[in-house]
Amino acid sequence: MKTIIGLDELRASRLSFKGTVGLVPTMGYLHEGHLSLIRLARAECDNVVVSIFVNPTQFGVNEDLSKYPRDLERDLSLIEPLGVDLVWTPTPEIMYPTGYQTWVEVEAITRPLEGSMRPTHFKGVTTVVAKLFNAVQPHKAYFGQKDAQQAAVIRQMTRDLNFPVDVIVCPTVREADGLAMSSRNKYLEGEDRKAATVLFRALSAAKELYEGGERNAGTLRGKMKEVLASEPRATVQYVSCADYDSLEELDVIKGKTLLSMAVLLGKTRLIDNFVLG
Ligand code: PAF
Repeated sequence: MKTIIGLDELRASRLSFKGTVGLVPTMGYLHEGHLSLIRLARAECDNVVVSIFVNPTQFGVNEDLSKYPRDLERDLSLIEPLGVDLVWTPTPEIMYPTGYQTWVEVEAITRPLEGSMRPTHFKGVTTVVAKLFNAVQPHKAYFGQKDAQQAAVIRQMTRDLNFPVDVIVCPTVREADGLAMSSRNKYLEGEDRKAATVLFRALSAAKELYEGGERNAGTLRGKMKEVLASEPRATVQYVSCADYDSLEELDVIKGKTLLSMAVLLGKTRLIDNFVLG
């Protein structure tokens, strides 16, 4: 496994690859969710590249960029056994040199949900992912369903900009008690960690109604809010029952649907979702 920083080294390695290339973009502090993406990339592609870059432009001014967990040594020891060919760890100066002024922005689909709470977030995500696609030129790129809106936005960008990249979205990996794995779970302590299962419980309760035949989206949103309200430590930011592709809120569920939510537990912001249909 080769670990590199510079763009020239990346391009030289990319040129030496024969066959297909799979890219797993990450911000490091890897967990089992990332490892499941890497395993799938390994199974599907001749060459696997993992990028580790805590992308400053996707953090809002009041967000946790400086506190975002980092541990490169630990990340490399987790990746090593998985048969990854190349780990690329560019610096902020490589990705955003002095005088940087070019951005990739996706419109309508970035506005609701996460976009309504974090107005500059997706501009940072799409810009960095476009730059990663340009640099690595992968055939396939792997993202987690946990960040459902991010996956939808990246699919849209890939279509709109004609990137010849197959965007693969992999199922959310959960702890035994249902909490979706996330690098930010590290911030959850004591009672907040226990309370964090309320997201999974709320989504499960709404899914149970759906499986019993309920198709009124308002009823499902109401059920999720009711379960979240039963946990006094949780502050709800949004609860949604939306069309899976457009992310528009639904009145009546017809096709593939995204149930999603963002909840604060203390200072830790958690998101989670289920796909129906
Ligand atoms: O999901 C993430 O970790 C990041 O948003 C991504 C896709 C690596 C872009 O920085």
